[in-house]
Amino acid sequence: MGLPAATRWQRNADSLLLCERNVARVTPLIELSLPALPGRRLLLKDESAHPTGSLKHRLARALLLQGIRSGAVGEGTPLFDASSGNTAIAEAWFAQLLRLPYFAVVPEGLSPGKQALIRQYGGELVVVPKGQCCKREAARLAARNSGYFLDQFTNAARAVDWRAHNVIVELFDQLHQQAIPDPDWFVMGAGTGGTATCAGRYFRNSNLETQLLVVDPEDSAFYNYHRHGCHPGGCLCASRVEGIGRPTVEPSFTASLVNRMSVIPDAASYGAARWLSAKLEQPVGVSTGCNLIGAVQLLATLQRGLVTTLICDDGRRYAGTLDDRSWLARQGLETSPWERALDTWHASGFWRPPVMDRELSATG
Ligand SMILES: Cc1ncc(COP(=O)(O)O)c(C=O)c1O
Repeated sequence: MGLPAATRWQRNADSLLLCERNVARVTPLIELSLPALPGRRLLLKDESAHPTGSLKHRLARALLLQGIRSGAVGEGTPLFDASSGNTAIAEAWFAQLLRLPYFAVVPEGLSPGKQALIRQYGGELVVVPKGQCCKREAARLAARNSGYFLDQFTNAARAVDWRAHNVIVELFDQLHQQAIPDPDWFVMGAGTGGTATCAGRYFRNSNLETQLLVVDPEDSAFYNYHRHGCHPGGCLCASRVEGIGRPTVEPSFTASLVNRMSVIPDAASYGAARWLSAKLEQPVGVSTGCNLIGAVQLLATLQRGLVTTLICDDGRRYAGTLDDRSWLARQGLETSPWERALDTWHASGFWRPPVMDRELSATG
């Protein structure tokens, strides 16, 4: 038995998603000037410029196209997904475009700014208490309500085509248009692992020399898996760096495509996000801070070359956390030493991280 013919609604929805993709703006490439590091460049592709404010705009579109083309999503199908916020914001936006009900299963403690955006786009929130698994709950709710589980953690690397219409191809097109040579490194944190996998596949399949550094927050499972092959069980939802770092290795993360991994202290990611927001006069999120620390580590070891990374999301959605010194203090996140270290690095080219105990500075 083959797939039943697409309904009129499915064909219209498919066209609407492709139209949206065709008119989507190319996200900007921003250079952080490095006067103290001659011969070295750092370019950040600004994914916060999407209408839904994060890199997850592209993923949400791809997941919905996949669901529609598989025949599982049709008129009125309720959609469910587990998310630390950005995917849910983007999925809610697309669900609204297609007039589908959308339910975001999110961890307790999610930034109020992200919660507000999910609601603003018509999504409903299902908040899961700390220690319980959002993915399992999203799958359960979808099954119980004859809905569709978008399952970003499993489907990210399948739904996104590494050959076309993705952030990496767009980045390389921009570099080529500006006659900038291929980057030496691309730096990325892993949440689903989908963006890192897409990058790694593109580099390998295009026979490029560009290498992939994955930066991982404290207590995340990805580093140990890459380094030692261990695959911890359990399933908790939250990392202190929203969007990246997972207690289990997600199916979309492909360790064999990663050239190097680095564990970044959470205080460093928060400090770097604050520092970069001030430097660019544009608020960026915490995972972007994690990317920046990885890029700075690389630039400190290179004599010359180009490092690229992403601005993953808009820092305004972390109001009340990232911008609030008393919140940071309550979390035990001492960001000031990292901000000062970045000031020194930027002014002198000399990178001396404040605390990099053996565990947290692990690379390999
Ligand atoms: C802010 C932010 N940064 C980075 C990531 C990681 O991207 P990926 O899921 O492709 O690994 C996410 C994922 O949700 C995110 O929301």
